[in-house]
Amino acid sequence: MSLIKLFKHKNRKVLFTTPSHSQSFFIVNKFLQFYKHDISETDAHDPVTALAEAETRAAKIYGSKYTKFLTNGSTSGIIAAVLSCVKKGEKVMVWKNAHPCHLNAVKLAGAEPVFYDLPLIDEWGVYGKFDVETLKLTLNSDRIAAIIVTSPSYEGIVSNVSLISDICLANNVRLIVDEAHGALYPFSDRLPKSSVGIADFTVQSLHKTAGGLNPTALLHSQEVNPSDALALINTTSPSYPLLMSIEANINFLNSVRGRKKLNELIDELEMLRSYCENVEFYGDDVTKLLIKKSGLTGFELSEILFEKFGIEDEKTNSVSTMLLSGIGTSKKKIEKLRNALTKL
Ligand SMILES: Cc1ncc(COP(=O)(O)O)c(C=O)c1O
Repeated sequence: MSLIKLFKHKNRKVLFTTPSHSQSFFIVNKFLQFYKHDISETDAHDPVTALAEAETRAAKIYGSKYTKFLTNGSTSGIIAAVLSCVKKGEKVMVWKNAHPCHLNAVKLAGAEPVFYDLPLIDEWGVYGKFDVETLKLTLNSDRIAAIIVTSPSYEGIVSNVSLISDICLANNVRLIVDEAHGALYPFSDRLPKSSVGIADFTVQSLHKTAGGLNPTALLHSQEVNPSDALALINTTSPSYPLLMSIEANINFLNSVRGRKKLNELIDELEMLRSYCENVEFYGDDVTKLLIKKSGLTGFELSEILFEKFGIEDEKTNSVSTMLLSGIGTSKKKIEKLRNALTKL
């Protein structure tokens, strides 16, 4: 059974169970379909089995041992990964400027953070790749249980996860990769290589680039089953409409239609890059448009795009501006951006 199929079946039982809206009493009528599909763990529906089977199928698609559907973002995936492999008092390497969930995860595990730096690329105002020498040096002097690496970065800088993984394996260190911004990677050879299947744990936000609803995400694990750790932090009343959307999301990305759409997006973005010769592009991931224009600061570029062309970027620093695209970015939207960039 799958959650998608389960929602197609009409329930014929009379439920005296939660949720109290009984799938037919709508307080917010804009969400009518959402209420209809918002169910609990009743015998009539049995969404627990359907979810387990959907996750098993997803693991096969990704080539991981376990894939868990998350409805509290990559944040919950990082926390569950750390709780799964780190004991109280152990040390975890954490990037100083990482997303706050990394340090929070370490705190929740009662572990000790060992902070590391990343090189700042001054010409772009963004942090660079993970430096394996830092890892080797730290491992020479400290006993580390796990390391959390962000790859890609928000701006699309991708680290050499295979190399990091080899070092971690040789030193019995668990590797957790925050791939929140790389959920499309497993579905195209034209994008950077995904860490799924390489790192012990890989966490991806479906909502950031892969067309998912906020805050859907995935936790992939190669060895350890993260279910117990997830049970520590998850509600016992999950949102099945969101979980079903995750199953449908993965099916779409893995389908011929989904792969074709992703290929077309990459075509459009590559064309945009070659067309807009008056701006510079940087980064390892074509879907993250990290740009700068000579004579303008990143903030000035951002303001011009917003005020003059009605285009809002994702993130800006004093040197460059980053516009994020994803599976839902239309050709029309890219054309609008191309038009604006050529007129700068
Ligand atoms: C690098 C990185 N990791 C993790 C997260 C948390 O992701 P989520 O919003 O899916 O919980 C974010 C969110 O912005 C992020 O940028």
